[in-house]
Parts: sequence; structure tokens; C-alpha cells
Amino acid sequence: MTPDPEHHATPHAGSGVAIEPCTLVILGGSGDLTRRKLLPALYNLLLDGLLPSNYAVIGFGRTPCTDEAFRTFARDGIKKFSRQEIRQDTWEDFARRLCYVTGSGDDPNAYRDLRTRIEAVEAQFTLPGHRIFYLAIPPNSFAPACQGLQQAGMGDPPDSPGRSSRVIVEKPIGRDLESARAINATIGGVFRESQIYRIDHYLGKETVQNIMVLRFANAIFEPIWNHKYIDHVQITVSEEEGIGTRAQYYEQAGALRDMVQNHILQLLALTAMEPPYSLDPEVVRNARMEVLRCLRPIRGETAEHMTVRAQYAHGAINGQEVPGYRRETGIRPDSTTETYVALKCYIENWRWAGVPFYLRTGKAMPKRASEIAVQLKDIPEILFSAAPHPRQAPNLLTLRIQPHEGMALRIMSKIPGSKGNTHPVEMNFNYGDAFSAPSPEAYERLLLDVMADDASLFMRHDAVEASWAWVTDILNGWDSHGSRWLPEYPAGTWGPIEADRLIETDGSKWRVL
Ligand SMILES: NC(=O)c1ccc[n+]([C@@H]2O[C@H](COP(=O)([O-])OP(=O)(O)OC[C@H]3O[C@@H](n4cnc5c(N)ncnc54)[C@H](OP(=O)(O)O)[C@@H]3O)[C@@H](O)[C@H]2O)c1
Repeated sequence: MTPDPEHHATPHAGSGVAIEPCTLVILGGSGDLTRRKLLPALYNLLLDGLLPSNYAVIGFGRTPCTDEAFRTFARDGIKKFSRQEIRQDTWEDFARRLCYVTGSGDDPNAYRDLRTRIEAVEAQFTLPGHRIFYLAIPPNSFAPACQGLQQAGMGDPPDSPGRSSRVIVEKPIGRDLESARAINATIGGVFRESQIYRIDHYLGKETVQNIMVLRFANAIFEPIWNHKYIDHVQITVSEEEGIGTRAQYYEQAGALRDMVQNHILQLLALTAMEPPYSLDPEVVRNARMEVLRCLRPIRGETAEHMTVRAQYAHGAINGQEVPGYRRETGIRPDSTTETYVALKCYIENWRWAGVPFYLRTGKAMPKRASEIAVQLKDIPEILFSAAPHPRQAPNLLTLRIQPHEGMALRIMSKIPGSKGNTHPVEMNFNYGDAFSAPSPEAYERLLLDVMADDASLFMRHDAVEASWAWVTDILNGWDSHGSRWLPEYPAGTWGPIEADRLIETDGSKWRVL
């Protein structure tokens, strides 16, 4: 499919918006996220002419570092991870706007030094003092960081008129409902909700944003988007790699916390939400939030019937041997952390009554893929589906988030030359083929939205807590009723047999991606 030249596309919401000059302060400036994602995203925004005309970026971290060394660190990261190459002219302008402050986030004095440097940089570039603090630090440093910013007069309201502050918070926001509430309360004690941007980078992906466009900018889908026509929905986020070097984090998290609580529930909310009456960020966030409120709780023993958790065992992915999870470096040999979870859930509202949503995610699977598959109901058993014809494959709409971003619609077609034999065929739309420009990275869009004060793609405190409340019920159910024995699946396969049974008892099958 190609874009229709007679109709103009709606402009990208992130462009054409007047963005005020700002100072971006990255707490955790020496970290992996800064190097791999944030600095490359900022540089790409610059190359695409989307950054404000005037800005500065200040890294803050414990590792001692000079401005010059920070620029080298940035250049290396951009060279390795940017989707566009470094151009000398733009690089020089970018580099002179980068600087670094060394300090421990646990030391209140460090924030006074940080403020002094911020003010000096703002004076140097004649910046108005609109500050964005990016908490690219471990979650246990969120509280001291917020308190440090407040004590140094950079919380809310800032102690100098005309200035403003926003704060960006990275995942994970807690590990259960209680800890999520505590983090929200700490940050909320320093910043107003309207200043807080909780990132779920999945929401920054082009194809995730396209879910709303697909549903609400086309007449064809909305009439069938309900329990009358839809049989079930499958949401899959599979990862090819095992736990790599993240053993310490992963042992404490597991697949349910790491993927379902945030990314997958957000995909579910976008797929199932009611049409918002406007694109106002609060209206859109309310619509997503309502889905989370309607999720039927999975409590107590139900957790054992509606969910399957498992660990990967020794296997091979693309010809490479992978050790079992319990044999990975840094993992306890008796670990009960799940590397795979599949579950069935229901959204209890008029639109979705009785429609199962099957969610699954896992590590060490055959490939990296994210997809939402909406399967329509079977046609009546007459005409082409009547005996002796085989049952016709139901229509299936798949939204591919990665890789090969796009969508496909499976329909039945007559086999040429045959009398009436049918075969499923796909109508395929590929983002990459249809639009010549490559999709920006999620962090580009998200950083730009914070600068433009647009919180549509960010998680509100109540959404974070609603999803944690739902996930915490499952975790409690596992703790009190679950067996310590976890099923296994060989690395490089699509999950354990128990997960197949979960969906097959309803007469459906997991998709093979
Ligand atoms: N990396 C990713 O792709 C990714 C993706 C999603 C979410 N996240 C989240 O982003 C945050 C940062 O992750 P990361 O991968 O960048 O971690 P990282 O590589 O370990 O970097 C952490 C950064 O925080 C700094 N830091 C740690 N403790 C600090 C303290 N007490 N005071 C001041 N600075 C402190 C570190 O400074 P020094 O190293 O100088 O000590 C470093 O700059 C985490 O919340 C993580 O969950 C990361």
C-alpha cells in the first residue's frame, strides 16, 4: 500500500508546535540510557530541525567527568546508536551545548552545585529557565533526587519567578502497588502531577500511536470493534535475548512486572479504549485509564487458572546455544522468577463483554516481535463454511509493532481456476514501504512531547497504580496459591505447553509470529 497523494496526512503531533527554549538536565548523565537512547534522540531531533532554537543539555552523575569527556561520551553513543550519521556542522553546535556536573545524587550539596551550573549555562545561552529534569537513575534514587532538587529551589514552585520545572521518570515505577504509590507520593510531594512525565517508551513508538489513528481515522474498523464481531485478541511481546547482563534487576522483576504491568497493559488499553471525544492529553489518558479500571481482577486461586508462568531451559536461538535461566550468571539455581508469562483476561464493559484478551511475553523466544492480533468471529456454517467445505479461517487483523511495522488483514479468497476452493490471503501495509521517511525512535517523540508540554503519551499516576493493583493481585495469587515449580520451555521456542493449553481450551491457538 502507498500513501494516497490526494489527501494530506495529519501533521505529526510533535511538529509544528512552538517549543520554548529549555534546559534539559539528565540525572544519570553517565548511564547507559543516556548514552544509548537520550543523547542519540536529542541529536536526531536536532538533525530533523525539531529541537527548540535555543537549548542546553546538562548531564549529572557520580562518575567524575569534564564537559569535554561528556561530549566524547555523547559522540561515541550517538555514533553507535543514532539512526542518522553525525554531521560535523550540527555536531559542533550540539556539542557546545552539552556539559556535565559531577555529584552524588544522595548528597544535598551536589544539587546546589548543579543549580549553580544550570544558572551559569542559562546565562551563557540566554535561556529562560524552563527546566526538564530527566531521572535516568535507579528507582531507589528517585526520592533523594526529588528532595535534592526541592531543597536546591528547583522543585515546584521554582524559587525564581518566570522559571518552570518538569520531571521525566523512567520505569520501573515500583515493584508492586505499595511501592508504586510510595514513588508517586515522593515525586508528587515535589512536583505537581501536570509537571510529571512517566515514560513508557512503548507509547512513543510510531506503530503504537498508529493504533489510535487506525481505529479512529478509518470508518471500517470501529463498527466491528466489539464483542459482537471480535472473537478474541492476542497481544504478544517476545524477546529473542535471554537476560544478558541484567540478572540482578531481572531476578527481582520477572516477566509480569517487566513487561505486562507497563507495555502490554498500555497496548491493551489503546486497543480496547473507547473513542476519546478529543485529542486533549487528559481526555486520551482518561480513555486509556478506563480500560484499566474495567479489567476483571485475577485474584487468589484464579491466578493459577488464568495465568501461566515459566522459565526458559537450555536450548538454541538461531543456532546459538542458550543456557537455561537458572544457569545464567547471577541467577540463583533455585530461582522462581518467571521469564515467560501468558494470561487470559477480560475487560468488563459493554463493548468487550465475554471477549478474552490473551497476553504473553517471554525471553529467549524464537524472535523479537511485538504484535496485537484481533481475530474476528467465524462466519456461519453455510455457503463456503458448510460441509463438505473446511471451516474458513476467520478474518484476522494484525498490528505489527516490531519488526516490519505495519498491519495485515487476513481475508479468504477463491483459489484461481478452482471451482470454489478458498485460501486465506493477506492485505499487507508496511510502514517502511508506504512512507519514505524512517520512523523516529520512541525517545525522540517522547522528549519532544515533554518540551511541548504534551502528556498524552505518558502515564498518569492513577494509571500506573491501576495497572500495579491488577498485577499485584496476580503476584499475591502466585505467592499464596502457586506451586514453586515453574514449567519450562526450551530457549528458542514459543513457550511451555501449559500456555498452549490456556488458549486451546477456548478453541483458539497462539499465533506463530
Ligand atoms: N538502559 C535502558 O535502556 C533503560 C530502559 C528503560 C528504563 N531504564 C531505566 O533508566 C534508569 C537508568 O538506567 P541505566 O540503564 O542508564 O542505568 P545505569 O547505566 O546503571 O546508569 C545509572 C545512572 O544513574 C547514576 N546513579 C546511580 N546512582 C546514583 C546516585 N545515587 N546519585 C547520582 N547518580 C546515580 C549513575 O551514575 P554513575 O554511573 O556515574 O555512578 C548512572 O549515571 C533506570 O531507572 C532504568 O530502570 C533504562
